Amino acid sequence: MEQLLQQIEQLKQEINAFEGVNGEAAEAFRIKYLGTKGIIKGLMGEMKSVPNEQKKDFGQVMNSLKQLAEEKWESLKGAEDNSTTESGIDWSLPGDAASVGGRHPISLVRNQIVSIFKRLGFAIAEGPEIEDDWHNFTALNLPENHPARDMQDTFYISQNPDWLLRTHTSSVQARMMETHKPPIRIICPGRVYRNETISARAHCFFHQVEGLYVDEHVSFADLKQTLYFFVKEMFGKDVKVRFRPSYFPFTEPSAEMDISCSVCGGSGCSLCKHTGWVEILGCGMVHPKMLDNFGIDSNKYTGFAFGMGMERICQIKYRVNDLRLYSQNDVRFLKQFTGGI
Ligand code: PHE
Repeated sequence: MEQLLQQIEQLKQEINAFEGVNGEAAEAFRIKYLGTKGIIKGLMGEMKSVPNEQKKDFGQVMNSLKQLAEEKWESLKGAEDNSTTESGIDWSLPGDAASVGGRHPISLVRNQIVSIFKRLGFAIAEGPEIEDDWHNFTALNLPENHPARDMQDTFYISQNPDWLLRTHTSSVQARMMETHKPPIRIICPGRVYRNETISARAHCFFHQVEGLYVDEHVSFADLKQTLYFFVKEMFGKDVKVRFRPSYFPFTEPSAEMDISCSVCGGSGCSLCKHTGWVEILGCGMVHPKMLDNFGIDSNKYTGFAFGMGMERICQIKYRVNDLRLYSQNDVRFLKQFTGGI
């Protein structure tokens, strides 16, 4: 009797622990425990070996076991009725929503810039991010020990051969003039690197777009008109521009271009540092020495070049005030740009 009671106790635990959600599992459970050749029927047969005075107690224990098994079976069947089909898959469950991705704000800005210049007949050129000293500096009229090299803190990779991470996309200008004869009309979007401490206003890498147009009779007026067209398309027809004299070793004369602040409309805010103007690019007429460096006759050909930071354009367009946001991949930031092209 002792042994029988132990066996029953074990069965109860087994029944409680039984898990299964489909029809097959419920039926297997029924056959195993409640069937005509099932465990419970078999145990009932033991009644005859139980001493008479204990028969009543044994009967009660067996009844509670049977009740437990029946309840379990009902619940297994119930689970099947409510949530599953024969295959065990609930076709009525709602699907997992697939979230729609979006382009990175820098990609949005690059696509817009590219499409505007494409309409003016500019082709796209690309170059390597790991450059040599010649294409990044020397060919651009920045010989060794030239003080203007300090304008851009450089990541040097090796000294001999002198590999470095390009500090500007002007290196692509150099590569284009090296391999192509005028007319050259290109823009080069790409990533550039500078050895700067990362903060809201500076980063060790960012993105630029360089433009270059070399042909006969290219003038400063062409440069101005091209950039004027660009900013109107990019920021709207009410935008104003101004050029300030500047210095770049590879252009002469050189200028920096400001646009009227699109955030405050000129009345003064933190973006324009209360001046009403924001600087967006550097530009100028290609230095004759640079043309000569590549065997382009500087008496016959002239050219203009310009370069701008995409993060800057993005900042003005989307009011992003911390450069670090572009590379942190925080989806809460990136999600705000879904829907762009
Ligand atoms: N390369 C310059 C810079 O990175 C920008 C520039 C490009 C200026 C072309 C003039 C002409 O600051």
